[in-house]
Amino acid sequence: MMNYSHKVILAPMVRIGTLPMRLLALDYGADIVYSEELIDWKLLRSLRVENDVLGTVDYIDQTDGTIIFRTCPREQKQVVLQMGTCCAERALKVAKMVENDVAGIDVNMGCPKKFSVDGGMGVALLSQPEKAHNILSTLVNSVSVPVTCKIRIFPDLEATLKLCRKLASTGIAAIAVHGRTRDERPQHANHNDVLQAISQGLDIPVIANGGSKEMECYEDIARFRGETGCSSVMLARAAEWNCSIFRPEGKLPLDDVIKAYLKYAVDYDNAPANTKYCVQNMLRELQETPRGKKFLESQTLEQICAIWDMGDYCREKQLEYKVRGLRGRREVIPASLSPPTKKCRLDEDIVELQCAFLRSVYANDVDLPKSKLLIWARKNGLGQPRYDTQQRDKLFKSVLTLNGSKYSSSCWEKNKRWAEQGAALVCLCSLGVVSMETLIQNGSLR
Ligand code: FNR
Repeated sequence: MMNYSHKVILAPMVRIGTLPMRLLALDYGADIVYSEELIDWKLLRSLRVENDVLGTVDYIDQTDGTIIFRTCPREQKQVVLQMGTCCAERALKVAKMVENDVAGIDVNMGCPKKFSVDGGMGVALLSQPEKAHNILSTLVNSVSVPVTCKIRIFPDLEATLKLCRKLASTGIAAIAVHGRTRDERPQHANHNDVLQAISQGLDIPVIANGGSKEMECYEDIARFRGETGCSSVMLARAAEWNCSIFRPEGKLPLDDVIKAYLKYAVDYDNAPANTKYCVQNMLRELQETPRGKKFLESQTLEQICAIWDMGDYCREKQLEYKVRGLRGRREVIPASLSPPTKKCRLDEDIVELQCAFLRSVYANDVDLPKSKLLIWARKNGLGQPRYDTQQRDKLFKSVLTLNGSKYSSSCWEKNKRWAEQGAALVCLCSLGVVSMETLIQNGSLR
């Protein structure tokens, strides 16, 4: 059973806390690594797949094949899955689904973003202590791994302490506290004195968070621990900028960190867009340099790697994975969604292919399926394609009409633009403008 006392922890960070960053943090000396926040209903529509080629466990979105959570044995005893939830029943279902793959489950009660608050998640739970208590006690009573939560503070100390005591009474293994209120932003000072009062008032480990602004080196982690009197320390931005801050021997040059990160990104077939985002957040103002600008133009994993002289490594590894049967991110057949309602019933004469729109395949906007189709249709005097898009369960499907014929992809997409691009791709393929072979090769067609 994982213990949260005297630990240095990688904080949950959306898009940053994917597998490569978590493994890097462990290599450099973090004791525990949190996943990015994963929303309960997204996990519930995922399928657990053991990926023999990569040696990972993947939770794959059944509707479009994207990977919601990828983990591997190396981190199993140290990874905490952070969940966004507002419902004890859903939270429990998620926890039971993942409990054998992770070392702990955390509930996010500190996110102030509109998306979270409007959904009753994140900080919204702090103003509903009964609900927060219910979610945590439901998990603590039924899950085999330790349960924690991550909160922000209230402007009033007594109110904060009261809330912490209530949450601690559920039997959670630890509580992570970001020492800012819901309305305070990173530029505001962290309330280390409040963290100290909380750690004195509770008999479970308190994990201090919010100190990155004052963290330059490894020694600052101990200083922050001392100033807050907390048992453990959790770092977000300081680790996002240079993950080697976890190294007791001292920070490494950024290029070394980026290379080590890219190696994991290649080894674990991390999505290029996610990889780029993480490297971008390491480079920060260095994006203005000539190399930074070249980096910003890169689209594929190989192009990103080439900038750090790892293009050959990436190409060879990707080839090796292909030979061993890794078919890319879209290999999961979408689950059949509930039968269409009358209103959105599809006509029978629609040409339908299981064709996904993969943004990373297209280098320029003119190459995008919709642009390509528009140019082709005009050239051939067929008029303008028309798109009718329907939405269900936060997913989109588009039917394209061109010259009296209809085309659609059976892949539901996460936004309207992608759904239209998918439909355009089916049309291009069906008209022979783009070959089926090309679509199979680039992973769009299953
Ligand atoms: C965050 N934070 C955050 N918190 C959380 O509970 N779940 C999450 O998914 C995220 N996502 C996230 C993304 C990014 C890019 C940043 C910078 C931050 C908040 C984070 O965990 C932490 O509480 C704050 O950043 C304060 O800690 P630091 O940065 O001072 O160490």
